[in-house]
Amino acid sequence: MRISVLGCGYLGAVHAACMAKLGHEVVGIDVDARKISELSLAKAPFYEPGLDELLAEVQSTGRLSFTTDLSAAQGSRVHFICVGTPQKKGENGADLTYVESAVTGLLPHLSPGDLVVGKSTVPVGTASHLADRVTAVAPDADLAWNPEFLREGHAVSDTLQPDRFVYGVANSSSQHLTVELLDEVYAGPLSEGTPRLVTDLATAELVKTAANSFLATKISFINAMAELCEATGADVTQLADAIGMDDRIGRKFLNAGIGFGGGCLPKDIRAFMARAGELGADQALTFLREVDSINMRRRSRVVELTRALCDGSLLGKNITVLGASFKPDSDDVRDSPALSVAAQLQLQGAIVTVSDPKALRNASLRFPELQYEPSTELAVKGADALLLLTEWQEYRDLDPCELVDAVATPRILDGRNVLDPAKWRAAGWTYRGLGRP
Ligand code: UDX
Repeated sequence: MRISVLGCGYLGAVHAACMAKLGHEVVGIDVDARKISELSLAKAPFYEPGLDELLAEVQSTGRLSFTTDLSAAQGSRVHFICVGTPQKKGENGADLTYVESAVTGLLPHLSPGDLVVGKSTVPVGTASHLADRVTAVAPDADLAWNPEFLREGHAVSDTLQPDRFVYGVANSSSQHLTVELLDEVYAGPLSEGTPRLVTDLATAELVKTAANSFLATKISFINAMAELCEATGADVTQLADAIGMDDRIGRKFLNAGIGFGGGCLPKDIRAFMARAGELGADQALTFLREVDSINMRRRSRVVELTRALCDGSLLGKNITVLGASFKPDSDDVRDSPALSVAAQLQLQGAIVTVSDPKALRNASLRFPELQYEPSTELAVKGADALLLLTEWQEYRDLDPCELVDAVATPRILDGRNVLDPAKWRAAGWTYRGLGRP
């Protein structure tokens, strides 16, 4: 099948490559010429494990191409909308400019029988409004909402081995054709044994925001428990292990630390609250305000703990921050808790050096005032305190005995609770975790 993918960011580039891997003929379209020229050379414009290899594999078959020219969508049977929906500047709601302009640009190229499929995360109600726009111009075309649940760092495997498919379809006589067409798109090993739910448009939109809100709530719940553990001398990692053994709770997403960041969870819960307000249902989501503030409180807590670790003053202290991306295996620094902490420490008089295996270019664009050092060995030299804020494997594997002579004072704050306190203490370090004694 010929498919177009509008928007070639974290979601679209991966989706385009995976659709070509399934055997479809895919054109990826984006307004960003730099992104398109890199993708055309089988080079992902961001770091995502396995994506460069997949791009090279499918591009060599001739089934995947990239362009800035929207008219290339003409002739495709299915058009995926994969553009970003960032937070509006100075407001909590989602900025739908890119979604609206992608649909506006696509409309003149639609043919009868085409299907427009939204994958971006949007406020509930957006899909039905877009469906009206599509059918007003192309009465024989249709629109479905098919949310994407991929995680950065696992984007390729999450797309090729999804947990479930959600097809949000409009209530119309052609509903079954839409479902059949989506089944045809995903036919093959990707969909074998994968549950599929067919819903209305609003439910499909809500599934995505509800899922991300639940995940954010789980993280803030355990971080709230970390606050209590800190007040009582209990250990939040043991607490999480113990409650996580209950199947009804589950251990995943119960890692206490400096909290969640990234391009999805923070802005999605805020956009969800804003939308609920517009719908007169804001009371239903007031708990998300608390989820957000527990999360933001973690960052200030790390700053305070660092000050305490540095004998009560940050002024002139050399602090090394290990990790800049919002999570490991990604170079994405959007709303990164690590960089937010680094910037706060610097504002309060510390001399901060940030290291990261992949994200330093993006980090320096966002926070040019910070100092960056790609080599861990050089970054830790002479430090008064180390802060592990993004749990890249190479930081988990650091050897406290090797490091102890490189720093000025062996003090470490483990913002992700991934190090073994006993091992670090035995090597002469003052170790501080979050929510651990
Ligand atoms: C998220 C959703 O998981 C995904 O399904 C959706 O499609 C997009 O949003 P992503 O933003 O890639 O994916 O990252 P995720 O793995 O969910 O992590 C989000 C943040 O939560 C990271 O900053 C991570 O460090 C943090 N986190 C995660 C915790 O602090 N504790 C945990 O236990 C888990």
